[in-house]
Amino acid sequence: MEKIKVLVVGNGAREHALSWKLSQSPLADKVYVAPGNPGMDIMTRLAPIDAEDIDGLVKFSKEENMGLVVIGPEAPLALGLADRLIEAGVKVFGPKAAAARLETSKSFAKEFMGRHNIPTAAYRTFTSAAEASRYLEEKPDGPIVVKAAGLAQGKGVTVAKNRAEALLAVKEMMEDKRFGEAGLEVVIEDFIDGEEVTVLAFTDGKTIVPMPPVQDHKALEESDTGPNTGGMGAYSPVAVYTPEVAALVETTIIKPTLEGLKADGIDYCGCLYFGLILPSANSAYKGPQVIEYNARFGDPETEVLVLLLKSDLTAIMLSCVEGRLAEQEVEWRDESAACVVLASGGYPGDYAKGKVITENVPSFVGASMAFHGGTAINEKGEIVTAGGRVITVAAKSTTLEKALDKVYARVEATFFEGRHFRRDIAHRELARRKGEK
Ligand code: GLY
Repeated sequence: MEKIKVLVVGNGAREHALSWKLSQSPLADKVYVAPGNPGMDIMTRLAPIDAEDIDGLVKFSKEENMGLVVIGPEAPLALGLADRLIEAGVKVFGPKAAAARLETSKSFAKEFMGRHNIPTAAYRTFTSAAEASRYLEEKPDGPIVVKAAGLAQGKGVTVAKNRAEALLAVKEMMEDKRFGEAGLEVVIEDFIDGEEVTVLAFTDGKTIVPMPPVQDHKALEESDTGPNTGGMGAYSPVAVYTPEVAALVETTIIKPTLEGLKADGIDYCGCLYFGLILPSANSAYKGPQVIEYNARFGDPETEVLVLLLKSDLTAIMLSCVEGRLAEQEVEWRDESAACVVLASGGYPGDYAKGKVITENVPSFVGASMAFHGGTAINEKGEIVTAGGRVITVAAKSTTLEKALDKVYARVEATFFEGRHFRRDIAHRELARRKGEK
């Protein structure tokens, strides 16, 4: 068996989780992460190249004879890193820029869904703030969703409780340019009340293999309140995502998406992220709906999924790149996993950096993982905070409750000034089990 070098592009907890799992493969000789962070340098090697330095990444991949490049974040996808690597003859897990438009342009994604009859909320797109505001004034007052059409680091979606909040979101995005160019076009869509579930899928463009369902907690504060973030914690599996729901999602969403990509002549190799909502019984919407696509692994969903994946991730990704996913084994552990994000105080707004991180992990916490995101090393050699989402603590066990106990024991033992985390990850699932919801 020929061993290969693998490069993971990115520096978040998602890339830490992916590189950790990839490095366990008998196929992987060395795993590099560019640029990575100090939490990753035990099993992997750091290459000091920015995730958006496309020329630098292509040059490094060629010089080091990378056998596989895995692109973590959306920005290098949007910049065409996959296209450039393919042109250079390098195997890459991650879609070309044209395919990544499913994530990088919300209006493109909505048109795609409309064209291929994929269930999603009714919407309108606007490039004029005055027209968007007029549209909101004409709609009945109530919850409504305003999305920046371009990339906004997971912060460009406002679930407005009423018209006033929606008008403010339009003003901030389109007039104040809160998200720069990304907010100059907005998508305004119906609010659908229900339960959000993420389903990620491996695909080589011919075959698509969904992963176990994950529920992310995007709101900053407990009970799903406060501003939207990139995600504050997650767990899997999710009981409301029953085998019947999974079958429905497969026939109404996942397969039509793959067929739609083929019909539109879009080659897609990589991970496709389906952000779904299962509407509540009193919603006008029936059956699972797509809230968003992403052209990459979710963060923090990935930190949970790598713990449940039994099969070899390097082999799965290579099978996608080589167009033979249909023959590849993709097996999952029959266990539960959960994760909690430790964020800097102030995130998703402004926050301080350089706070020293101390970890005093009790031995009984066992096989929990601390996947580093926004961390750096200071001049004294101490690990310090350097981003909004600092560390994602993850664990698996035979039950969700046991997995959460392990996670929270390690979370409590991981300290930095201003540390913020949610204490109620998986609250809906736990309440359902107690018969409260
Ligand atoms: N957790 C949400 C995302 O990755 O977009």
